[in-house]
Amino acid sequence: MTTEATAIAHPNVALSKYWGKREEVAGAVGLGAGPLSGPANIPAVPSLSVTLEGLTTRATVRFDTSLAEDRVTLDGAAARGQARARVVDMLDRVRLVSGETRRAEVASRNDFPTASGLASSASGFAALALAVVRAARLDWDAARVSDLARRSSVSAARSILGGFVELDGPVARQVAPRDHLPLAVLVCVTSEGPKMVGSTEGMRRTMERSPFARAWLDEAPKLHAALREALLARDFDKVGELAEASALAMHASAISAGVVYWNGATIEVLSTVRALRDAGTPAYATIDAGPHVKVLVRPEDVARVRPALESTAGVLRVIEARVGEGARLVES
Ligand code: DP6
Repeated sequence: MTTEATAIAHPNVALSKYWGKREEVAGAVGLGAGPLSGPANIPAVPSLSVTLEGLTTRATVRFDTSLAEDRVTLDGAAARGQARARVVDMLDRVRLVSGETRRAEVASRNDFPTASGLASSASGFAALALAVVRAARLDWDAARVSDLARRSSVSAARSILGGFVELDGPVARQVAPRDHLPLAVLVCVTSEGPKMVGSTEGMRRTMERSPFARAWLDEAPKLHAALREALLARDFDKVGELAEASALAMHASAISAGVVYWNGATIEVLSTVRALRDAGTPAYATIDAGPHVKVLVRPEDVARVRPALESTAGVLRVIEARVGEGARLVES
């Protein structure tokens, strides 16, 4: 007997950043292990993201009584090692709580290159979580699917929902729908290679070694609360200023632990963004766990800002994204 489901999801970019997991912070910064420590993958600070459209992961899951083991294909190639283990872990979690005993065939494909500068783990685990749940014939709401996605990758919890999404502790919720604030995100790709240090490892080192880890953990919730308020007030400039401040504070803590994601082009783009602002165009930068810079602009300024970014030294290409919808089921 087989049951199958296919879901799509988009990446997201955090305006107020998540960096640090509760369980690690408890150990490294001396908070003491609370009831939430353990493998639940709960962020140490709240974050607020925008789900993007224009880039999509499509995941199909088929539970099948005739399979002896799980089969996982990522972008057309059989997955092995750590990549396969992360997918099987999610399948096991669903089997454990649902009584599902069948093995599964999983195929996941991105319509954007993994080195595009946009986190494929967010869209990948969001699409996969929804597809697994439906293929197992479980009637879970978005909050429960998001909880499942978060256990594989924290940022994936936010891609379950569309528009502007907050993740506070274990729970993701939509703060505002996609049309709340007109926004374009220009992704400046500055390197083709994989990142040096994965985000899980980068934040672990930061919490363990950065003299500023405590300062980041204290500051991030304040930046988040102010950004949330600015977003609700539709104050584009305030949202942009706070998003840039959140990214810079996060990277300052990482850099002080020796976790440097930036390259020369990252800094060049930051100065282009500052020059645009000095010349009167509102543009703000945010940076995730990699060297690429995501520039936040008003849609009417894209035509002016894009060429300035494209001619910045070290920028390989610019990808334009807008605010998008959450994960959803599609025809297999
Ligand atoms: C810098 O969600 O990729 O993009 O939970 O370990 O899978 P894991 O990390 P991940 O980290 C994202 C970090 C960030 C900031 C953010 O998206 O909030």
